[in-house]
Amino acid sequence: MIIDHNKPRLITTQQYLESVVSVLDRNDLSLEFLAVNSESAAVTELDNDGDIQAVLLSWETLGDAVADSSIIDAIKSRRLEVPVYVTGEDEVGFDIVSCSSKIEAFFALHDIASDPESCLAYIINDFDDRSETPFWTAYKKYAVETNDSWHTPGHSGGASFRSSSYINDFYKFFGRNMFISDLSVSVDSLGSLSDGTNAIGKAQNLVANTFEVKHSYFVTNGSSTSNKIILQTLLREGDKVIIDRNCHKSVHYGIVQARALPLYLDSILDPKYGIFAPPSLSQLKAFISDNKDAKLIVLTGCTYDGLLTDLKQVVDYAHQFDIKVFIDEAWFAYSLFHPQYREYSAINAGADYVTHSAHKVVSAFSQASYIHINDPDFDKDFFKEGYVLLN
Ligand SMILES: Cc1ncc(COP(=O)(O)O)c(C=O)c1O
Repeated sequence: MIIDHNKPRLITTQQYLESVVSVLDRNDLSLEFLAVNSESAAVTELDNDGDIQAVLLSWETLGDAVADSSIIDAIKSRRLEVPVYVTGEDEVGFDIVSCSSKIEAFFALHDIASDPESCLAYIINDFDDRSETPFWTAYKKYAVETNDSWHTPGHSGGASFRSSSYINDFYKFFGRNMFISDLSVSVDSLGSLSDGTNAIGKAQNLVANTFEVKHSYFVTNGSSTSNKIILQTLLREGDKVIIDRNCHKSVHYGIVQARALPLYLDSILDPKYGIFAPPSLSQLKAFISDNKDAKLIVLTGCTYDGLLTDLKQVVDYAHQFDIKVFIDEAWFAYSLFHPQYREYSAINAGADYVTHSAHKVVSAFSQASYIHINDPDFDKDFFKEGYVLLN
């Protein structure tokens, strides 16, 4: 989307960029340009068109005040991942880029005129980086290019089913790709989930970057296991844990396994809807006052019924007493990426540990889960013990 209040220049910029699309030889992409000449039109387009992947903004649309980057804030509050490139006269480029950390890059107008191909290639290159899928790409390549299987499982890429006169319909139902993709952990080039190496490690790092955390880990047994891994990492016998009585049973189980001491916050029934609400902040504060030596607070972020709570207040208060906060966001993996929910996101609120059932409300296969960690005192080595054993 190109934004420029100066209509003739808006049209010229669009024409320059359109003129080089065929030269770039990217038939895998469908490139379209949308030209708007006001901030309000840009915001409306962003609200209605989820396919917009880059914004080219003429700095003059921001008005005389050089520091006014409100349009950039408006764009980023809607689509954080969409890069904003600013265009303007060469001599003000440095000043412009210094105005907002949210500006991806600056293109001088005369460069767009003289070499639109390099500007567009730059934007597409950023898009390629954003859509990189290191694990999936390596996995597909390995599965497709490997024509024999010297590892478990014993169906050997489906050969035993395919050759069976009794159960070859099993092979036919799922098809070849399913069987050749059923790989063992011993395929070293794909990396190790336990060690976070190679393609898996790269994918985990990209997830951490996307979710704005220091570390992200993939878990293959659901958030039930993610929750237990975190509790096993953080709790020792007798440690006090303040928890919502309505936490998922995996949380209760993890606390029992660690032989820690749960301090239960009351469940609050919302009589109007007949559903449980999150625990009250006042009770939580009272619990903390009486138990300043508590190790951890565990709450459910977005309850099973979809109720939200102001987690930032909880996190800020707990951190004053050096109490770590772990939020089970099994049902809220998208929270950070929706302008309406971002404020309620556990990561945005500053929680130390967050779990997401990637298979529940985003598109992962069954039981895929994320652990996200922002705890400055995170003990990676100790965490790895539980992660490897339970995962
Ligand atoms: C709040 C909460 N946490 C954790 C879980 C467990 O999730 P998973 O199915 O990913 O193990 C559930 C399951 O419904 C849940 O509701």
